[in-house]
Amino acid sequence: MRDALLTRGLARWCLLVVPLMAAGACAPPEPAADAAMTLVERGEYLTVAGHCNDCHTPKLFTATGPVLDTTRLMAGHPAGDAVPPIPAGVIGPTAWGGLLSNDLTAWAGPWGVSFAANLTPDATGLAGWTAEIFTAAMRTGKHAGVGRPILPPMPWELTGRLTDDDLRALFAYLQTLRPVANTVRAPIPPAGFRQ
Ligand code: HEC
Repeated sequence: MRDALLTRGLARWCLLVVPLMAAGACAPPEPAADAAMTLVERGEYLTVAGHCNDCHTPKLFTATGPVLDTTRLMAGHPAGDAVPPIPAGVIGPTAWGGLLSNDLTAWAGPWGVSFAANLTPDATGLAGWTAEIFTAAMRTGKHAGVGRPILPPMPWELTGRLTDDDLRALFAYLQTLRPVANTVRAPIPPAGFRQ
């Protein structure tokens, strides 16, 4: 009874006040405005929006399907994981465009097999990087901004369109992650399965 009265009271309050105030006064709370986010919070938000975990975080296989292994956030393709052979003729101009591992950390395509990088602040990851190196890599599509081409499916054309502040935020967030020692293997060149 008391609850019903309270609800009615609140409803009336909304009814009276809403027209007088900016719309949304009685709506559910909205996500925090950008300005209220710290650099690291914004980096985490961009990480989720950019699907970085999909490819860069190893998964745990549960009864309800794969979930992110939160003890290894962004640790990249696990060293030592076996890479299944690519059957001849499966990938090619008139065949399939690509294959991917169960945990989405290894991808095969016309470019060969690429393995998602370790983005944690460990020596085997991005420990020695600065925001400038990170930004250069995301903008140029070259390893650390100066090295070999960054292979698909890393969406660097997309991350390269983020603002300087967004890229700084992403890097700041990555640097707060638990450092995970994981030396990601080098890509496998396409010879052998390119058609
Ligand atoms: C669809 C899968 C995928 C997604 C999504 C993805 N990545 Fe990657 N990323 C990769 C792969 C695979 C590599 C390794 C490519 C290689 O070895 O050339 C990589 C490499 C990198 C590298 C290393 C670049 C270098 O200089 O060597 C960084 C940094 C990186 N990704 C950051 C990110 C961030 C930040 C996001 C989210 C905004 C993201 N990635 C989303 C697959 C992905």
